[in-house]
Amino acid sequence: MTVPAAHGGAPRGWLELSASPNPCGTPQAVRDAVAGAGYGAYADLDPREAERHLAADAGVEEGCVLLTAGATEALRLIVAGAAGGALVLGPTYGEYARLVALRGGATAEIRAEAPAFVPPVERFAAALSSRSWALAFVCDPNNPTGRRLAPEEMRAILAALPPRTRLVIDQSFAPFAGESVPAADLIAGGDAMLVRSLTKILAAPGLRVGYVVARRDRIASLRAHRDPWSPGAHACAAAAVSSWDLGADARLTIAAWRERLVRALAAHGLEAVPSEAPFVLAHAGSRAEGIVRALAHRRIAVRWCASFGLPEHLRVAVRPPGEQEVLVAALAGLRAEARS
Ligand SMILES: Cc1ncc(COP(=O)(O)O)c(C=O)c1O
Repeated sequence: MTVPAAHGGAPRGWLELSASPNPCGTPQAVRDAVAGAGYGAYADLDPREAERHLAADAGVEEGCVLLTAGATEALRLIVAGAAGGALVLGPTYGEYARLVALRGGATAEIRAEAPAFVPPVERFAAALSSRSWALAFVCDPNNPTGRRLAPEEMRAILAALPPRTRLVIDQSFAPFAGESVPAADLIAGGDAMLVRSLTKILAAPGLRVGYVVARRDRIASLRAHRDPWSPGAHACAAAAVSSWDLGADARLTIAAWRERLVRALAAHGLEAVPSEAPFVLAHAGSRAEGIVRALAHRRIAVRWCASFGLPEHLRVAVRPPGEQEVLVAALAGLRAEARS
């Protein structure tokens, strides 16, 4: 059996720990909105109500939100509007470099180091201010490390931005983490663009829904490049009732499940990096690929991180205790097999 594809998720029927949607599931209000969505007319594809709602939810003015078909379309639109090279705070989500390369640009990376993967903010800010980049990317909390930037670190990065460099802050996992700099403050200067996937918080990859928060003039130019009817009717309906606030109860529940997972992995010799995301990055050394393959034989998908340049690490989704028990039993089985 092969390792599950890097994108695309586990086959149906597997325990899916290689993607990290909200482990509390899809909010009922979103389920109801999707079930009741009209899709018989082009009018059902009008994103304006959702955009007004999301702007109010984000605490920014009307006109500062663009609805997109997932964070994926948001990233593509942003990169399409910026010719030139990019700087990324790595190791991180590979789409930034891929999209920049498709436009003929090169990406330089300032990389956090194992074992703790503390974001090298000073080095990143220095590289940022050393020349003019078309784009700079930070993912906060970061995929795959789960590390979060402190508000003062985010402000230091903003302060180091050269003129005409756009800072893309991918906040796709931010609802799962603690407090951050308010969206209105981040976008005030005009150079920061916030990319928000609703896929994660709504636990709904199939909806293809996300959005950009940016200053009104930036949103207007992205809007001019978005294809007509890009987010589908169900995406528009879901977005119109969604909130970026996960709620304190869910955040605490997920944090407790994450702690539980970290302890369970440690008991099997897999040391996790401190995470504020709904996943943890765990060090498995030379066993990493073998563990992923052996778990795949048991229909359990975890993410081998070789494509992030981390072949000794696994990324494991935070799931409710019952699902964690299945993983723990499988890891115990692998150990028993290794000893026999
Ligand atoms: C950091 C990050 N940004 C964006 C995306 C894409 O999200 P969407 O499904 O909303 O296109 C992903 C998907 O895994 C991701 O990990």
